[in-house]
Amino acid sequence: MKKTIYFLAAAVLALLSGCAAKDDTEKKIDSLVSKMTLHEKVGQMNQLSGGEWLAEAVEKGEVGSILNCTDPAELNRIQRIAVEKSRLGIPLLIARDVIHGFKTIFPIPLGLAATFDPELVEKGARISAIEASASGIRWTFSPMLDIARDPRWGRIAEGSGEDPFLDAIMGAAMVRGYQGDGDSTSIAACIKHFVGYGAAEGGRDYNTTEITERSLRNVYFPAFKAGVDEGAMTLMTSFNANDGIPSTGNKWLIKDILRDEWGFDGLVVTDWNSAGEMIAHGFAKDLKEATGKALDAGVDMDMMSYGYISFIEELVKEKKISEKQIDDAVRRILRLKFKLGLFDNPYIDEQRAGEKLYAPEHLEAAKQSAVESAILLKNDGVLPFKGVNTLLVTGPLADAPYEQLGTWAFDGEESHTVTPLEALKKEFNVIYEPGTEYSRDKGTALVARARSAAARADAAVVFVGEEAILSGEAHSLSDLNLQGAQSELIAAVKQSGKKVVVVVIAGRPLTIGRDLENCNAMLYSFHPGTMGGEAVADLLTGKAVPSGKTPVTFLKDAGQAPFYYNHFNTGRPNNGTETLLDDISLKAGQTSLGCTSYYLDSGYGPLFPFGYGLSYTTFEYSGLTLDKMSYSNGDTIEARVNLSNTGEYDAVEVAQLYVRDLVGSVVRPVKELKGFQRVEMKAGETKEVTFSLPVADLAFWTLNDGYAVEKGDFQLWIAGDSASGEPVSFSID
Ligand code: BGC
Repeated sequence: MKKTIYFLAAAVLALLSGCAAKDDTEKKIDSLVSKMTLHEKVGQMNQLSGGEWLAEAVEKGEVGSILNCTDPAELNRIQRIAVEKSRLGIPLLIARDVIHGFKTIFPIPLGLAATFDPELVEKGARISAIEASASGIRWTFSPMLDIARDPRWGRIAEGSGEDPFLDAIMGAAMVRGYQGDGDSTSIAACIKHFVGYGAAEGGRDYNTTEITERSLRNVYFPAFKAGVDEGAMTLMTSFNANDGIPSTGNKWLIKDILRDEWGFDGLVVTDWNSAGEMIAHGFAKDLKEATGKALDAGVDMDMMSYGYISFIEELVKEKKISEKQIDDAVRRILRLKFKLGLFDNPYIDEQRAGEKLYAPEHLEAAKQSAVESAILLKNDGVLPFKGVNTLLVTGPLADAPYEQLGTWAFDGEESHTVTPLEALKKEFNVIYEPGTEYSRDKGTALVARARSAAARADAAVVFVGEEAILSGEAHSLSDLNLQGAQSELIAAVKQSGKKVVVVVIAGRPLTIGRDLENCNAMLYSFHPGTMGGEAVADLLTGKAVPSGKTPVTFLKDAGQAPFYYNHFNTGRPNNGTETLLDDISLKAGQTSLGCTSYYLDSGYGPLFPFGYGLSYTTFEYSGLTLDKMSYSNGDTIEARVNLSNTGEYDAVEVAQLYVRDLVGSVVRPVKELKGFQRVEMKAGETKEVTFSLPVADLAFWTLNDGYAVEKGDFQLWIAGDSASGEPVSFSID
């Protein structure tokens, strides 16, 4: 009893002191706002990226935040102008795209998603925050939560792939990592791009999207909602117009959903000039009208359209926007600056800024992330290498430090990057032949040299893929085959008769079907970052065992896009009997080829399904049971399965739990990931793996336009990828 009273009293005290602290900050904000002219308020809502006039604008209080400056001395200079020379001394908020690392570069986010390891991803984001904050950056435009189901879209590299569940878990992990405990190493996360940007028609960047409210709610919103619930301090609107409305001018999205339904009270920023781009969209006749629409939709800060700083005052005078609305936005901006401690501590310790960069534990985490993100797609037993002394290392990505970092790695440095060539030289007697100059090089002169060098080696590793510039923003592709002479290089080396391992370093899942045929093993490492070389070397030699799983479906052909595992069934689902055009039994003049839903030339299935990845060992799942046959809303489903490591290596398996809701008020996905675990397994070991799945997690946006778990029959299974596993049935009554 005494104990209970003590706890109650402590809780009340904590609450009261929390309120007091909050009131204190709010009072400071009130006091500042009351002193600000309308011009100064608008200044806070303006974000700029450098420029000669920056210092003058900062001094006049016309800038609230800057992006893209990372030189500590220069940042201190500008900050000093804001704090010491501007009338109210409000510090600037310094922003940067710290997407997968600041100096120590981690694998691209798509690679990080392949780890299925949110703790490691959180650790990576924490490290990024420690390094970036030491250089004065207190706001990152990450995580990108855009669901991407079309690998032609270059920005697929920047997110967690096609699955809403995985996306939400990884996004929340990054938010936790960036924002940390709120100390001076905390940087504000920015969940972006709200919303649907990844569904660009045809995978062409910035393109139109047509996503219904139901799909938004079931597929595109969940990761944003998870980010909001995790306490993400900011959110960025997206470039795309969905259903004819550019996100930056979409009041329903920002006010009704984000603010009112989800209770988000953080800062909303436009994407780069996305307010101004509403003119090109044909949604506003000029920048003044675009500014009015962005404000009316609820956007607090304007990144680089200059619309806010130029037109808000006029709009207020004309009573098109109320000053109260401006005050609310300014309050949110000031609140963020207080939360980050900028008023108390606006400057960088220039002497110590470098100390935190590339710390050994940062490099170790980057290496572990690269190890876990690599996916073994094929292995006939050649890996891990045994008895290989002389190794041919070839391919344009074998020794390309910049390319290995991937897109959005502005601050990563080639000089700190360990390439596969360097790392493999420590393990083998290496013969190096570039094979081609760079990934798009079509010349075959170097191919022939690599082919003959293979004769002198015990085995060959061919590093192919994409240069960093081939994925990321505005880098969409319509052809997803390896570029240049890379496929020819693989085929030529294979002709040597030596064992050939292909390592793909790329920003997206490429269509590597024909290359698979020409190698004995293939490891897909995405852009693995600073420590990618050592990670790959450890995997090839068996010091580490692959555990990555595909975070997106791998296609046979770009023409299959968009393609994702959690699709709906058609009325004519394919039952596995597909007749392909090159089937010799097909006669000319035949009129019907099958009447189910598939491509005549590439069939029904993908090259590799979502969640797929091999190990050096093998795993078996058996004896799946549920604690009950039927459940009610509010229950938790307990599922158990025996997992056996049936091979000879200690390894990690990513066990995945899938569910199918058989009949709904609207059609339901054929399967949905609802849980996963990385399970460490000794060779020969069997473990019972348990999952607890709250029935509430089966809710979706139903025909009645509300979230609900619908009663009926379901299936559940646990497997090593999305295309395997035997389901058990249960019902919700
Ligand atoms: C991108 C954003 C990025 C911003 C600032 C835009 O072009 O779409 O993702 O955060 O630039 O660099």
